[in-house]
Amino acid sequence: MPGDKSISHRAVMFGAIADGMTEVTGFLAGQDCHSTLRAFQEMGVKIEPTASDAFRIHGVGLNGLQPPRKALDLGNSGTSMRLLAGLMAGQHFESVLVGDESLSRRPMRRIAEPLRLMGAEIELTDTDTAPIRIRGGVSLRGITYHSPVASAQIKSGILLAGLYATGTTRVIEPGVSRDHTERMLQAFGVEVRIGQDFAELQGGHRLKGSRIPIPADISSAAFFMVGAAIAPGSDIVLESVGLNPTRCGIIEILEQMGADISVMNKRMLGAEPVADLRVRGSRLHGIQIGRELVTLAIDEMPAVFIAAACADGETVISDAAELRVKESDRIQAMCEGLQSLGIDVQPRPDGARIVGGKIGMGTIHSFGDHRVAMAFSIAALRAAGSVEILDCANVSTSFPGFADLARQAGLKIRQYMGSDPNPA
Ligand code: S3P
Repeated sequence: MPGDKSISHRAVMFGAIADGMTEVTGFLAGQDCHSTLRAFQEMGVKIEPTASDAFRIHGVGLNGLQPPRKALDLGNSGTSMRLLAGLMAGQHFESVLVGDESLSRRPMRRIAEPLRLMGAEIELTDTDTAPIRIRGGVSLRGITYHSPVASAQIKSGILLAGLYATGTTRVIEPGVSRDHTERMLQAFGVEVRIGQDFAELQGGHRLKGSRIPIPADISSAAFFMVGAAIAPGSDIVLESVGLNPTRCGIIEILEQMGADISVMNKRMLGAEPVADLRVRGSRLHGIQIGRELVTLAIDEMPAVFIAAACADGETVISDAAELRVKESDRIQAMCEGLQSLGIDVQPRPDGARIVGGKIGMGTIHSFGDHRVAMAFSIAALRAAGSVEILDCANVSTSFPGFADLARQAGLKIRQYMGSDPNPA
């Protein structure tokens, strides 16, 4: 499985503003992480490849970034944009963050607002979206921020700004969000205080170059976990998958549905727990999935929709309105796609009701969303005929080589460009 996307972004960002050298291994070579990498190269950070998935970052220190000559283009990557918004708010120069069509539709007020409370000067469009213009050269002050949503992107953006602020910056969240920022900042020598529902740090803390090994991404592994769980006779092992407790909801959900998953060889890889996962085909049944499991499996929900469509009985997903503001409106995209494959599914404002059934054949719109495209590829394992998925180029944002790996695992999958489904 490819490297973890969330951790790869953070390794570049923190390595860039650290003092001294950072060695990164297991980096995700997806387009999203390359957007982050390029942004720092444009700000004068030297990044030296040491292997195909490894490099050495020559950290420039907390205040060593150079003004970029143009807008920083973050492509499809919400994590790059929201974390960088916080980091750039603390710089001595102005910057502009732009993204592709999907990223330019996503809500940015959720990060701009707390940063403004810290003293940052940030402009968004009239619809509170990117481009984001950040003035820089202002002094930031620490705040205590009660975030209305549990979001690691918001929390991390604020904590990064907090490194440049006076006093203490504290983020309090209404639920659990992934804690890679806190773990990795600690690995870089920053003291981060962590409580039940908050994280806080002191301004001015310097980061010390570190070694960051990156585990395999459980969000990518999720497609293969669901694939193996729904395809009778499957038996696969996924190695060194990140099992951070704030990301493990997919295992709990699949186990509640009756999946056969063994967690083997648990160990630490740097600051993150990992294990090998063995998944065998089994009969699944519908369950209720509410707030707690949703936040622990937010990126895996498209795969969960497919598991639910292949399960006996009904699955109800609720408290999942955040899915509507991801790379696409994932509730709508998954419901429309499943309906066109003949599954009985009703969208709800904050989730969906899915009745397991026979998956038919047909054409699916991925809405340019990598995870929607991969979820429907896996659904084809149980389909009556071919499933054609449109607009798949963005799969490479998080999972370069997905089709090849899926083929190795036994999927009959073919990629084509333009309108020709029968390439040489
Ligand atoms: C991420 C946080 C999550 C997740 C995204 C990656 C991160 O978003 O959906 O894919 O790396 O911090 P939110 O913070 O919006 O929940």
